[in-house]
Amino acid sequence: MHNHSANPLAARLKHLTLNSPLLTASGTSGSCNEMGRMKNHRRILHALGAFVTKGVTLEPKRGNPEIRVMEIRTGLMNSIGLQNSGAAGFLQKELPQLESCRLPILVNISASTIGEFGKLAAYLRDNDREELIAGLEINVSCPNLHAGGMAFGVDPRLVERVVKTVRRHSRKDWIVITKLSPNVTDITLPARAAIEGGTDVLSMINTVRGMAVNIETRKPFLGNVVGGLSGPAIKPVGVLMVYQCFTKIPECRSLRVPIIGIGGIACWQDALEYILAGATATGIGTAWFVNPNVFIEVRDGLEKYLSRHRTTLAKLVGKACDC
Ligand SMILES: Cc1cc2nc3c(=O)[nH]c(=O)nc-3n(C[C@H](O)[C@H](O)[C@H](O)COP(=O)(O)O)c2cc1C
Repeated sequence: MHNHSANPLAARLKHLTLNSPLLTASGTSGSCNEMGRMKNHRRILHALGAFVTKGVTLEPKRGNPEIRVMEIRTGLMNSIGLQNSGAAGFLQKELPQLESCRLPILVNISASTIGEFGKLAAYLRDNDREELIAGLEINVSCPNLHAGGMAFGVDPRLVERVVKTVRRHSRKDWIVITKLSPNVTDITLPARAAIEGGTDVLSMINTVRGMAVNIETRKPFLGNVVGGLSGPAIKPVGVLMVYQCFTKIPECRSLRVPIIGIGGIACWQDALEYILAGATATGIGTAWFVNPNVFIEVRDGLEKYLSRHRTTLAKLVGKACDC
C-alpha cells in the first residue's frame, strides 16, 4: 500500500498503520453516510486515519429523556444515553455504509454487565461476515447494572475483567482499545488494569461528569440530570491523563500499548499537545459539530508543522515527557 516512512503523519496502532493520526471520537460523527453528505467529504475522509462508530449495544436503546445535548460557554454537555439500533441493526444498516469510507472501522461498544460485553463482542465477531471491522473500542464509562449504575471504568478490577472478556470473544486480528473515563482520581489504575486484561491500545478521555441548572424552570437542564462535559474545557484534563499514563506506565512509554488522546481538540496545536504528552493518535468530537473543516485543518496544520521542523509525528510522541 504505502511506505509509512514516507508519510510523516503515519500512526501505528499495533498492526494497523493509519495514514493520519486523526480519528472520529465515538458518538459524534454518526455513520459515514452523514459525512458523505458534506460537500467536501472526500477531503474529510482523506484527513482521517480511522472511523470510530457511535456506541453500539447488544439490544437497541432509546436513550435518555430530553433535553440530551446543550451548549455551554466552553463546550457541550450531553446525556444521550447510548441511543442506537443495537448490534443487529448496526451490522445491517450502518456497517455497509461505513465500508464506503474506505477507512479502518473501529466499533465503540457498551454494555451493562460483563457477560453482555462478551456476548456483544461475540455477536459482532460471528456476524461481521465480510470482516469489515478492524477493532473494538470498549466504552468503560457506561453504567454497570450490578454496581447500581456506577461506571465500570472507576473500578480497576472490573476494567480488567471487561477487557479480558471482550478480548476472549473478539476476532484474533481485531485491535482492542479500552476507552477510559476521566472520572477517577488516578487514571493510571484503570489504565494498568486494562493492560493486564490484554488491551492493545488505550484511548482517553471520555466526557467529564457535570450538571447544569435551568434558572427559568429552576430544574436540572438535562433530562438525565447528570451529563458529560466535552469540548475545549476538558483538554487540559485529557492532556494530563495521557501524560500520566505515558510517564508512569512502561508499556505506554515503550509504545507497546499506544494511547489515543481525545478531549477538547479543536485545532492542530491541540492535537500536537496530545502527541507531545504521549498520544500516538488523536480523536476529535465536539469541535466537529462547530467546524466541519476541523479534520482537514488539523491534518494540514500538522503536516505543515512536521515539514517546517523536518520531522515525523512518530518522533514527537511523548516528547514533553523527557524531563
Ligand atoms: C453527543 C456525544 C455522544 C457521545 N457518545 C459516545 C459514545 O457513544 N461512546 C463513547 O465512548 N464516547 C462517546 N462520547 C464521548 C466522545 O467520544 C469523546 O470522548 C468526548 O466527547 C471528548 O472529546 P471532544 O471534547 O473532542 O468531544 C460522546 C460525546 C458526545 C459529545
